[in-house]
Amino acid sequence: MASVKALVQSQDLKSLPSDYAHFKDSQKSIVAGPEVSLPVIDFSLLSSTNPDERAKVIEDLGKACEEWGFFMVVNHGIPENLINSLFNVCNEFFDMPEEEKLKFETTNPLYPVMVRSGSTIHDKSNQTVLFWRDYLRFFVHPEFYCPDKPQDFRDLISEYSQRTRDLACKLLQGISQSLGMEEDYIQKAMDLDHGTQIFAANYYPPCPQPELAIGIPPHTDHGLLTFLLQNGVGGLEIQHEGQWFHVNALPNSIFVNTADQLEVLSNGKYKSVWHRAVVNNEKTRITLVVPNGPSPDTIVTPAAPLLREAPAAYGPMKYMEYVNVQRVTRLHEKPLLDRLKLH
Ligand code: OGA
Ligand code: NI
Repeated sequence: MASVKALVQSQDLKSLPSDYAHFKDSQKSIVAGPEVSLPVIDFSLLSSTNPDERAKVIEDLGKACEEWGFFMVVNHGIPENLINSLFNVCNEFFDMPEEEKLKFETTNPLYPVMVRSGSTIHDKSNQTVLFWRDYLRFFVHPEFYCPDKPQDFRDLISEYSQRTRDLACKLLQGISQSLGMEEDYIQKAMDLDHGTQIFAANYYPPCPQPELAIGIPPHTDHGLLTFLLQNGVGGLEIQHEGQWFHVNALPNSIFVNTADQLEVLSNGKYKSVWHRAVVNNEKTRITLVVPNGPSPDTIVTPAAPLLREAPAAYGPMKYMEYVNVQRVTRLHEKPLLDRLKLH
């Protein structure tokens, strides 16, 4: 299938091709939510030697997870030039000829490298709808994959993956403590030394009728914590207290959201947050997304120390099985996470 990028470049599109019409009439179309300010977590304080400062940031982190499931991390220590280079190299990747990009696809079901455009969803009437985006996605841990073009891609991804893995581990240490558990509880229980990490780049070209299209429909992520960077162009919306809100990033910050396995692990205290990507008709939007999860073989259950206070609210499931079942779950089906709920 041609990429959305190629579609946009091949003709002067005045209206949205019907395959991409997520909303059939503009009455039911996407209305961009109001903008909201997210909690901000100063990452550097997590390694503060001042116990009060550290206790405060852990409390803030717990609150951000419980009340929002979405926050911005500042002072994360990931160099700005690494991030800029990553955006450049991903842009170069999407600029390569279609045939060239598709060469990097692998079919290994456990660790695929996927280069796709307009992934399909099936709506309630089982119609196929395409997303207004192209994407590249591959596993970077525990096994490392990466296309070997453009030049420098591997090195940049390797460094970014290492740094974001450290960031995830440290945030999860703080999150463990915010739940009243040992600092390394999540690290051990989720076998983070072999944790699953994915790198994904989403490319959303300008869209002729953005209100009828969707970049990514509402979903929750499957891992523990997801990191997201955007190229200065907004489009991310999150659900908060039943309403959709547009979120924008502070300079040099990283978006972090809680995902399904953290909801299970925290026995429902830190809910996995629903979010979606809307598109616009002016600028290309690129996002770099890194989902961090347990090791593929970890059987995820609510954390034992939390079960002294309340019975388990979720059944167990092996993480890789979860990922595979979720991949084929259709939009109108009950979300997999809900199927694990015990009450
Ligand atoms: C995702 C995602 C949102 C965005 O890739 O899981 O939610 O704004 N992306 O690209
Ligand atoms: Ni997501």
